Amino acid sequence: MALPTSVRVVEVGPRDGLQNEKQAVPAATKAALVERLAGAGLPMVETGSFVSPKWVPVMADSAEVFRLVTRRPGTRYSALTPNMQGFEAALASGADEVAVFAAASESFSRRNINCSIAESLDRFAPVCVAAKARGVPVRGYVSCVLGCPYEGVIAPADVAAVAQRLMTLGCYEVSLGDTIGVGTPGAAQAMIRAVAERVPLDRLAAHFHDTYGQALANVYAVMELGIATLDASIAGLGGCPYARGATGNVATEDVIFMLDGLGVRTGVDLGALIGASWFIADALGRAPDSKVARARGRPGEERKS
Ligand code: HMG
Ligand code: MG
Repeated sequence: MALPTSVRVVEVGPRDGLQNEKQAVPAATKAALVERLAGAGLPMVETGSFVSPKWVPVMADSAEVFRLVTRRPGTRYSALTPNMQGFEAALASGADEVAVFAAASESFSRRNINCSIAESLDRFAPVCVAAKARGVPVRGYVSCVLGCPYEGVIAPADVAAVAQRLMTLGCYEVSLGDTIGVGTPGAAQAMIRAVAERVPLDRLAAHFHDTYGQALANVYAVMELGIATLDASIAGLGGCPYARGATGNVATEDVIFMLDGLGVRTGVDLGALIGASWFIADALGRAPDSKVARARGRPGEERKS
C-alpha cells in the first residue's frame, strides 16, 4: 500500500512528556510550550491531564496551564481524563476534547489507574455519555499494545478487543500505545492488522515510545499499512510514571523531518518545532532527545551543514 499523502500529527509532549519529569516545570513554561507547538501548526496539542494529583503530582497544575494558554484558532487543546471527576475538571478548564486511557494488560491497568481493564471501561462509559451530550469528542488510548513491563508479550487480539470496546463506548479514534517502546516494525504491523479487523484503519492512531530506538521505524511500518494519525512528543520528552524504564515518545521534529522528506503533508513547520524543542530542553537544562533538533542546533546558533 502507498504511504498516506497527508498525516495528522498529535502532539503529546506537554502531557505524556512533562508528566514524567521529576523536576517541576512552571505552568507558565508549559503554557508557552503549548503556544509554540500550536504556532508550529500542530493541529492538536495534548495540554494536560486531569488525574489524581496524588498519582501524578506534576500534572496537578493542568487547569492553570489551560488558563494561561492563548488559544490559536483551529488548534485543538485536549486533556487526559480517567473518570468523571477528571472530565468535569477538563471541561471547566476549556479542554476542546478529552482522552480516556485503557490498557491491553491487566497488570498495567492496575498499576496505572488502580482497576481492572473491565472496571476502567465501566468508568469511561459515563465520561463518553456526558461528552456526547455536551458535544465533546473523546479519544481512547490503549497502552502496552506491544509489550507490558509486568506481563511481557501482549497478544494482538487483546489489543483489538480493548480498542473495539473503546470505539463502542463512543471514542472517535483509538491511539495504540507502545508504552514501553519494545515494539519492532514487524510486530507493530501485525498488531495494526489485528486491530484493523475490528476498528477501521482511519480511526486508529499510533503512539510509539522510543525506549529501544525503534519508534521511527515503527512509524514508517504502520504508515505502510495506511495509519495516518501519529502521536509524537516534542524533544522526545516523556515516559510513563507506571512503566519503569520507558523513555520518551518518538520526537515530533524527527517525525516531521522524515515526513517532509517523504513528501507527506502535515502542515507543521519544522523550524518552529525546533525552536519549541530547544525552548523546553533549555527549561529542563538538557539537550533535546531528538536527532534532528541536535543536528540543527539551537535557533540562532544553527550548524551550517
Ligand atoms: P484511585 O485512588 O483508585 O481513585 O485512583 P479514587 O476514585 O479512589 O480517588 C482517590 C482520590 O483521588 C480521591 O481524593 C479523589 O478525589 C482523587 P481524596 O478523597 O483521597 O482526597 N481523584 C482525583 N483527583 C483529581 N482528578 C481526578 C481524580 N480522580 C480521583 N480525575 C485514578 C484512580 C484513576 C484517579 C488514579 O489511578 C490516577 O489518577 N491515575 C492516573 C495515572 C496516570 O495519569 N498515568 C499516566 C497517563 S497514561 C499514559 O501515559 C499512557 C499513554 O501515554 C499511552 C501509552 O503510552 O501507552 C496514554
Ligand atoms: Mg505514552
